[in-house]
Amino acid sequence: MMSRFSVCVGAVMLVLSGSCNSTNKPARPIGAAVEIKSPLGLPPVTFPADNPPTAETIALGRLLFFDPILSLDRTVSCAMGHDRQTGMGNKAGRRNAPTILNAAFNQLQFWDGRAASLEAQTLEPVTNPVEMAHSLEGLERRLSDDMAYNAFFERAFGPGKVTREKISKAIAAYERTLISGNSPFDRYLYGGDKTALSASAARGLAIFRDPTQGNCAVCHSIGENYALFTDNKFHNLGVGVDSAGELTDLGRFEVTRQDADRGAFKTPTLRGVALTAPYMHDGSLRTLKEVVDFYVGGGTFNAFRDKEIKSLDYLSVRDRTDLVAFLESLTGELPQEGRVTSPLR
Ligand code: HEC
Repeated sequence: MMSRFSVCVGAVMLVLSGSCNSTNKPARPIGAAVEIKSPLGLPPVTFPADNPPTAETIALGRLLFFDPILSLDRTVSCAMGHDRQTGMGNKAGRRNAPTILNAAFNQLQFWDGRAASLEAQTLEPVTNPVEMAHSLEGLERRLSDDMAYNAFFERAFGPGKVTREKISKAIAAYERTLISGNSPFDRYLYGGDKTALSASAARGLAIFRDPTQGNCAVCHSIGENYALFTDNKFHNLGVGVDSAGELTDLGRFEVTRQDADRGAFKTPTLRGVALTAPYMHDGSLRTLKEVVDFYVGGGTFNAFRDKEIKSLDYLSVRDRTDLVAFLESLTGELPQEGRVTSPLR
């Protein structure tokens, strides 16, 4: 028992797999699984077998996501971190917070892919010193001392203590509902509505897909029946290379230790991109026009730059404007709060 306890303190991943639960069995939602409907342009939402979304876990996760109770000094919630891009005491982290919209479709979470699931992702910002700076033990204790939360956890998972595993499962269940599709682009390509895009945005789409033009879709994938705008892979574009040509953040390399991953970051989805400035893992580009100009220049040269990144200086000024118009057409319907009715309020 003692050794299990020390493992729990050190290794979050083990804890998340359920070894710290008082009964030693993984916590499972007790309610009926609900269907999360995907909008036009997105595939069905999948989830781990031991965390089917239920109305109770989603509502509890939503409560936790918006509650500053998760941070040590009770000033920062998950929602605020993704909105303001800062943590407690207005500290800025090393990287730009990735968008939470459509994170349900990411195979790996974070810019460097270090978390394999939403469940594994949720608690890291809680303990990150520049984000919420709390300890998981402290958070479990604080939520256990809260009568209302205790009741919500029992309704979601049945009787038992509030554990980090239940906290992470509830937040992940909520995050899976934050999906956004049915954008003008989706209505044009998948809905057969040829009036959904302006002429400029439609030209931009063609440039985006054409390997001899923008060559963007080689990484920001557009499929037959849906588009994730990511290949779920990691690439080095030279973002964050300093004037001496040195990488300032090794990105995926920090996880894999493979040379090919030096300075590589996960291809982000581009859905809703017009709403999520600033851009890139370090937030170094302020507008979509700046992003397009960065690609036209072939990114920033360095020894590990991806072979698909090269100068696009043959794109005319109109082509560049069309690409921006296309990116702006990717703003879809925002997730409908209340799509799943909340039994907690
Ligand atoms: C080799 C793969 C690859 C190609 C080709 C590519 N991208 Fe990207 N894109 C990425 C990666 C990886 C990032 C994140 C890079 C980083 O932060 O270091 C990114 C970031 C972006 C962003 C910022 C998104 C955000 O949320 O910060 C936009 C916008 C974008 N790309 C648009 C385009 C367009 C337009 C093209 C074509 C001109 C293109 N991309 C071509 C892989 C690619």
